[in-house]
Order: sequence, then C-alpha cells, then structure tokens
Amino acid sequence: MALLFSILLLLPFSLSELLFVSVIWRHGDRAPGNLPYPLDPHNITAWPRGWNQLTNEGIKQTNDLGLWLRNRYMVETQHINGVFNKDERSLSSAQSVMASLFPPEAEFVWKKGFTWQPIPIHSNGEDRDDPNTGMEITALNVDNLYDITREISHGLKQPDWVTDEVVERIKEFKRAHDGTLSSLLGTMGVSNGELIPSAAAVIAELHRENGKDFVQLWFRNESSSNTSEPIQLTLPECDSSCPLSTFNAIIAPLTINSTK
Ligand SMILES: *[C@@H]1O[C@H](CO)[C@@H](O)[C@H](O)[C@H]1NC(C)=O
Ligand SMILES: *[C@@H]1O[C@H](CO)[C@@H](O)[C@H](O)[C@H]1NC(C)=O
Ligand SMILES: *[C@@H]1O[C@H](CO)[C@@H](O)[C@H](O)[C@H]1NC(C)=O
Repeated sequence: MALLFSILLLLPFSLSELLFVSVIWRHGDRAPGNLPYPLDPHNITAWPRGWNQLTNEGIKQTNDLGLWLRNRYMVETQHINGVFNKDERSLSSAQSVMASLFPPEAEFVWKKGFTWQPIPIHSNGEDRDDPNTGMEITALNVDNLYDITREISHGLKQPDWVTDEVVERIKEFKRAHDGTLSSLLGTMGVSNGELIPSAAAVIAELHRENGKDFVQLWFRNESSSNTSEPIQLTLPECDSSCPLSTFNAIIAPLTINSTK
C-alpha cells in the first residue's frame, strides 16, 4: 500500500545513549484517488496537484513532522539513510519532511536566505503494481479485489494465485484499512483501534543503558504539531523499555524476510 515511508537516522554514539532511530510515517493529507462518484461537482480543478497527490495541507503536515523530528533529535545529515516507496506522494512527503528536518545551516548555506538544501532520497525502486492483479492494491481498490469472494461463492474458477491464504490476506487488508501503520500497530498488539492520522509516525528508538540495549516504541498520532510528546507504546509481552533480545524474539515471528 502506497501510504507509508520509512527513514533511518543513525545518531552519533558519543552524544547520547540513543544509538539508533527508525521512523515509519504516513504520508500527509492527499487528494482523492479519483472522482469519488460520477456526479461529484468537485472535479480535478479542486485538486491543483492532481488526483492522489499531496495537498498543501499535506505538505504542511509532513513539513511539521520534519520539524517535530528535528526538535526531538539533533540530526546530522551525513547519518541519514532513508528508504521510501517510489510513488509520487511518498516521494513528495519525503521531500517535505526533509526540507524541515535538514534546513541548511552554517557551511551548508549555499544561497543566503534560502532555507532549503537538496537531501538525497532513496526509493526502494519497487514497482508497486502487483504482478497478479495488474494494479497497485490500496485501501481505495481493495473493495474491488474483495469481490473475488463473490466470484468464489458463485463457483467461478480462480487463477492459481488466489489461494485461501491470499483471500484471507485480502480480508485482513480490508480490515486494516489504513495499510502499513495500522497493520504494524495491530500486528505488534499496540493498536488503539483509531484511524491513523495523516503524517502520523511510529518510531523505534534503540537506547543503551549500562551496556545493555533497549528498544522503546513511540507513536506520534497527530498531523500538525512540531513539539508535542509522542505516546509511548508497550508491547504486551515486554516492558516499555524492552531489552533488545526480548524485542527481537517477539518481533521475529511477525516479520517477513523479503530477501528470501
Ligand atoms: C470542472 O468544474 C468546473 C466548475 O466547477 C468547470 O468549469 C470545469 O469545466 C470542469 N472541468 C472538467 C474537466 O470537467
Ligand atoms: C492518539 O492515541 C491516544 C492513545 O491511544 C488516543 O487516546 C487518541 O485518541 C489518539 N489520537 C488520534 C488523533 O488518533
Ligand atoms: C511550532 O509550532 C508552533 C505552534 O503551532 C509555532 O508557533 C512555531 O512557529 C512552530 N515552529 C516552527 C519552527 O515552525
């Protein structure tokens, strides 16, 4: 699903006991994917950046997220490593976050009064179209895919890829609705059951205390604040500061190894 972005920030060891931060965020507010219904009086002219693209509000939200991250972490550009989905609004959101996370300072100022500098953004380069369905599967069209169940109940023969497991996954996806972030929170057992706000972020922090490593999870579940405290998430089987080895043991059965 095309809603989420992730970025990794590696922080200098010497400055802090915070060793590593991983942030997964949802894109900002966006235009509808298409005309919501044929007679809708609000056509494309209401959405100057186009269907599916970030709106000005969405750019403001992701920009605020960048400020928020900047306020929470003193970040140095050279340590950044981000992986983003390659669809247009993911990349636009990434640029918007980067613009406020890394404004040029001191020797990085390349034009007086200009508060932007280019920051490299890596895409995972994956074409998100599913090879079996020929379309990108999103919250907008999963309803169409769900209609496979109607074909099945009418005894229509399905292609080989439509296994029971796939049908179950389609149902799961439909339930998850908001895609990556709500699935992530649900899988870890820390969902609050609410819809995921635009530009919300789930953050994993790796801390070292007395030579031992701990993971803390945080949820910034709002769209436009540059300073508010995030909500701490606690895995059901661990403490809010979860020993890294315990965290890995809990997470291992929930992860998919994409290198296989
Ligand atoms: C879109 O709507 C405006 C008025 O709301 C109308 O003037 C325009 O012709 C419409 N454009 C298209 C492409 O339908
Ligand atoms: C954020 O999370 C808290 C705690 O689960 C919840 O009470 C609140 O309603 C959430 N806010 C939004 C905007 O989802
Ligand atoms: C952060 O948000 C506050 C309140 O909305 C605003 O007054 C302030 O200018 C913002 N800071 C930056 C750097 O944008």
